[in-house]
Parts: sequence; structure tokens; C-alpha cells
Amino acid sequence: MNFPAIIASINSDETSLCQWDEALGLLEGWYIACLSTNLKKKPKAIKLFGRNLVAFRGKNNQASVMVDQCAHRGAQLSKGKVQNDCLHCPYHGWGYDSEGKVAHIPSIDGSKPPKQGHAFRQRSFATREVDGAIWVYLGDKDPADTPVYRMPYFDKPGFVSYYMTGVYAGGLSSIVQINMDVSHTVFVHGKLFRNSADRLVKSTIEVTDREVEVIYEPVVEKLGAAPWLTNPKKLPINHSDRYFAPNVTQVDYHWGDSSFQFVSVVSPIDRDSSILYTCISYRLPIPKLALKAMQPLVKGYKKAVNRQDIAVMKHQLAGIRGWPTTKQNSVKADMAHVAIDKILSAQQYGIELAEQVKCKREMNFYI
Ligand code: FES
Ligand SMILES: [Fe+2]
Repeated sequence: MNFPAIIASINSDETSLCQWDEALGLLEGWYIACLSTNLKKKPKAIKLFGRNLVAFRGKNNQASVMVDQCAHRGAQLSKGKVQNDCLHCPYHGWGYDSEGKVAHIPSIDGSKPPKQGHAFRQRSFATREVDGAIWVYLGDKDPADTPVYRMPYFDKPGFVSYYMTGVYAGGLSSIVQINMDVSHTVFVHGKLFRNSADRLVKSTIEVTDREVEVIYEPVVEKLGAAPWLTNPKKLPINHSDRYFAPNVTQVDYHWGDSSFQFVSVVSPIDRDSSILYTCISYRLPIPKLALKAMQPLVKGYKKAVNRQDIAVMKHQLAGIRGWPTTKQNSVKADMAHVAIDKILSAQQYGIELAEQVKCKREMNFYI
């Protein structure tokens, strides 16, 4: 990829990435439907790529996700209830098993479900519950060919992990990009996260078929609200940002025996909004109890940072919607963003990523 100082013409319209009928190859991936703790006995309505889905727990408490529409007369199954391991429609009571097969039709079977079930079914999707989240595969290909992203530090000894969720304006491309974007931090999160220091940031970016990796040169810098607590020895901080297409970013900060990791998974709701699930894992060389006691502080801090991102994403979407046909421009600090757009586009249309996009090179810019 050749990056002059100014890179022109990125298509600003990402709405097609987030609509079921236009997303095409982007449906071939694992998306978080909801967190494990948010799916209990009641079925849960979920919207992904503008379409209504329902999640429920059937046999052995196993999570399933299916189309939120009854195969009889179309009522929303999420308004029904789970009984005898089946999801029952609120209208005439048809019951669906975990694979979407109609197991019980009260007007035929009475109150007793038959052994064989019936020939009708509704589309259900491959579902996996790992690392505290329920993931669903939306495409037509064999889900076994695509591994679910695993949270590197979830439930790992020494780490505290938790999820934070937020609804963001925008879709797959813009939300993934803000998570990989260093240059906005001094403008949006100045004082709270990182102050502008007119410093040259040096990094190396590597782009492969489905991934972007940015490794920053370690520096001593004041990061976060309490650097005197988290990095009292003022050790150099190793920082890396990774993108795994189509919807996962992994941001790591590491110094001495301390680590903070933010894994963010974008689940597009519709053309205007997405849910961002962020798994935050951290470890500091302090006693475990003290680490746990810190959690409300870490949570409050991260919430405040996220609120700032949510606000600026709203402004970005409003700006784009106001003049949807205008092209955007990029500079060197946006190399990861440009690569992400190209990777998403290649996956959407099922084409190979152009050879000239794949690269490993320096990416230097000021913050
Ligand atoms: S509409 Fe669902 S059972 Fe009739
Ligand atoms: Fe941010």
C-alpha cells in the first residue's frame, strides 16, 4: 500500500456493511448476540444487521439463536416463553427446539409434545457460548471453518476481567476504526486518558488478509487517570492494536508485570447503530483483593472514556449523514483505517485482498 502524506477518497457510506441483504460475506463471521449473564429463562430479542433474532436457553441450558418469527403465522417468538426445553410462540403455542424444528403443535398434539416432532422449522444459527458471551454465526458457510475469537485473558489466573457494553452510532467500519485510532485520544480523551505532547509516535503496521497489527515503539508516558498508581516506576509502556476481521479489535498495554487489555467486538444492530461489547482484562502487581477492590474505579473510568467515544461517534455519523456522498480523506495516521476498510470490502464481496494492501511498514505521526 503506497501511503503519501494525504490519502484520498475513502467511501464514507458504510450502511451496506450493516444491512442483512447487502452485508453479503460479512455475515460469514461470529458476532456476539448477548452476554451470557443477560440470557436467563426468558427468551431475548436481538437485532443484528437490521434483522430480528431471538436467543433462548433450551435443553441443558444450551443457548440457541434463531429467526424471531414463528413459522406458523409469523408472530415474534421472543414474546413467547420457554417450556419443556422448547421456545413457544405467544400466538398458537407452537414449540421450537434448539435447532429451530417445530417439536409441538398444540392444535394437533394437545398438551403433549409428540416424540417425532413436525416437519416445519424456522432458521436457527450456529451458537457458541464462550468466555462469558453468546456468539452466533450468521452466514451460510460451515461455521466450523471459522474459529470463534477467544478472549486471551478471560478467567486467567492473576487477571480481573469484565465486559462493558455500549450502543454506538455507526457500524462495522467506523466503530472498529475508533478502537484502533490513536490520534483521536488526545482530542477526545485529553486529561482523562492522554494529553497531547506534540510527540512523534513511531509504530510498525502489518496488514494481512484478515488482520491488521500495529506495534508502537515503547515509551514512557502518562496514561490513564492515575499513572502514579498503575505505573509508579514510570516504566516504558508497550502498546499494540490488532484487528481481526470482520468485527474484533484487541488493544494491549503492557509494562513490567502489569497489563491492560481491551477486546472490543462490534455487533451491528442496523444502519445507524451497533452494540460494542468490550472485554476488559487487567493485572497489576498488587494483592488480588486490592486488584478486585480497584474494579469500581476501573469501571467508572472506562465508562467515562466510552461516553466520550459515544459522543464523538454521534457527531461523525451526523456529519456523514448530512452529506452522504462526500468523500473522506486520510493521512498517514489513518493507515490502519484504510486497511480495515479494504479488508471489510474484500470480505463483503468475497474477493481476495489486493496484494498491494498487504504490507509491513513504519507508521509515524504526531500526537
Ligand atoms: S403464529 Fe406462532 S403459533 Fe401461530
Ligand atoms: Fe476513544
